[in-house]
Amino acid sequence: MVSDISFNDNGQHHKNYSENKNERKLPEHVAIIMDGNGRWAQKKGLPRSEGHREGAIRLREIIHASLEEGIRYLTVYAFSKENWNRPVTEVNSIMRLAEYFFRKEFNKLKKEGVFFKHLGDIYGLPDNIKRIIDEMHRNNAKERRLTLSIAFNYSGRSEIVSATRKIASLVADGKIKLEDINEELISNNLYTSGIPDPDLLIRTSGELRISNFLLWQSAYTEIWVTKTLWPDFSPRLYRKALEDYSKRDRKFGGINIYHSSVKQ
Ligand code: FPP
Repeated sequence: MVSDISFNDNGQHHKNYSENKNERKLPEHVAIIMDGNGRWAQKKGLPRSEGHREGAIRLREIIHASLEEGIRYLTVYAFSKENWNRPVTEVNSIMRLAEYFFRKEFNKLKKEGVFFKHLGDIYGLPDNIKRIIDEMHRNNAKERRLTLSIAFNYSGRSEIVSATRKIASLVADGKIKLEDINEELISNNLYTSGIPDPDLLIRTSGELRISNFLLWQSAYTEIWVTKTLWPDFSPRLYRKALEDYSKRDRKFGGINIYHSSVKQ
């Protein structure tokens, strides 16, 4: 699955990349596993919460870089269901940070055409976060330059279980037949319904796994991994990932088919 892992963080090709901006193949949808906040903080002798705080600043920069580059969908993994197993102080710091981030950034981003979408189990979240997410969904951007999906209390396996239950109840109620169940129906019942599958998955901090993120959706996603920890990730390195993607030959299980000619 990981056919071409890039650890080249020097961004040397950035200049050529910019010059060829009009010719490159851009991913329509970029997904990011923002990993390494804790290690970044620990290396500096800081509490882990400082790593998350710095990570939130990077996230804001990468959202802006996505707008500049014309990316249409950006999906980030901010809190997994498994993250509840962390010490309560760390979980609380992430919840506070999320509240701050949503309150502070949402209106500004909305004006720039960023449409917000939450992915995950909203019922398992604290009331204040539930309220803000609900508010953001209700007062969303009219213009959709970029759809920003934030996976928060998310698990790819739980998402598939939830879709399976919805579909099973449609069958049980006689609303659909067993033969109506197909890949499209499953996709339409996931949290990501209406969003195309990710073209590119970026993971920071060097781990070679997808950690229960977008399991169904990433069947043919190109994976790009950097050893750089998320708080050190930069728009420049992001552009390097986009450049590397533009050189990938996507086959979708076939041969010699370039992704620019394939509609998903
Ligand atoms: C993984 O690093 C990161 C997280 C669990 C939290 C991600 C959160 C942010 C980037 C902050 C932003 C945004 C919102 C909206 C809350 P890790 O802690 O697992 O790092 P480690 O592997 O080095 O321990």
